[in-house]
Amino acid sequence: MSNREWENLQTTAKFVRNRLHNKPRIGIILGTALGGLTEEIANPVEIPYAEIPHFLQSTAPAHAGTLIGGEFAGQNVVCMSGRFHYYEGYSFSELALPVRLFKLLGVEIAIITNAAGAINTAYAPGDFMLISDHLNLLAVAPTRGLNLDQLGPRFFDISTVYDLKLRELAFAEANQLHTCLREGVYAFMTGPQFETPAEIRALRVLGADAVGMSTVPEVITAAHCGLPVLGISVITNMAAGILPQDAPLSQVEEVGTEATADLIRLLKGVLNKL
Ligand code: HPA
Repeated sequence: MSNREWENLQTTAKFVRNRLHNKPRIGIILGTALGGLTEEIANPVEIPYAEIPHFLQSTAPAHAGTLIGGEFAGQNVVCMSGRFHYYEGYSFSELALPVRLFKLLGVEIAIITNAAGAINTAYAPGDFMLISDHLNLLAVAPTRGLNLDQLGPRFFDISTVYDLKLRELAFAEANQLHTCLREGVYAFMTGPQFETPAEIRALRVLGADAVGMSTVPEVITAAHCGLPVLGISVITNMAAGILPQDAPLSQVEEVGTEATADLIRLLKGVLNKL
């Protein structure tokens, strides 16, 4: 990241800070069809991405394009309703922007959600999966290029970015709510095509439990700037080749939308205890 990028980031953060009523403690990124959560945010300030200087635009279906500040479950939050994906044409360094913005706004915990296909055959659509680790087979990094020392060191550890305490808290809440919460490894694939059955078999051998087209660039960025992450996948479908049918594309949005109410309950429980 160059000085120019750092200056742009400061401009972005200053603009957003001036519009928000509170300093957010929790930053939330909502996955496909999970935007319903934003209706639960009290005293919302909505900022369309298009108004934010040097920000990106959402082009993905079932992703709004609004940053929302307000209160959720007793916490000051800032929430991205509509995220950015590599398949939209953004570079990995561009995908670092939202989490870096969180950091500059004062966020202390990032909650990153997504819709994912199950590779683990014990999972079923509608389950939630806590992300305990990920596979980044692309081996690319949003932090590639000149390091921005103001945000974090050149080399950094990401082995504990999926924070154990946050995961324990989420499990305790899920138990109380009788919500089916799995825990597993998320494999990042770029899309926009869904995977081939051979790719899914290969990912299973490599230890993946679910697959999706997001999250990992954001999580690496969070690790770089020292933000702990709670990562939750909503399992919307069985991955390619597991069932004798084509990738059920419409199912992703349907199941995501249906799961939103349970996700809200789970996150409320977690945030109330933070
Ligand atoms: N593959 C990739 N991304 C996805 C899937 C999938 O099966 N389901 C939801 N997002």
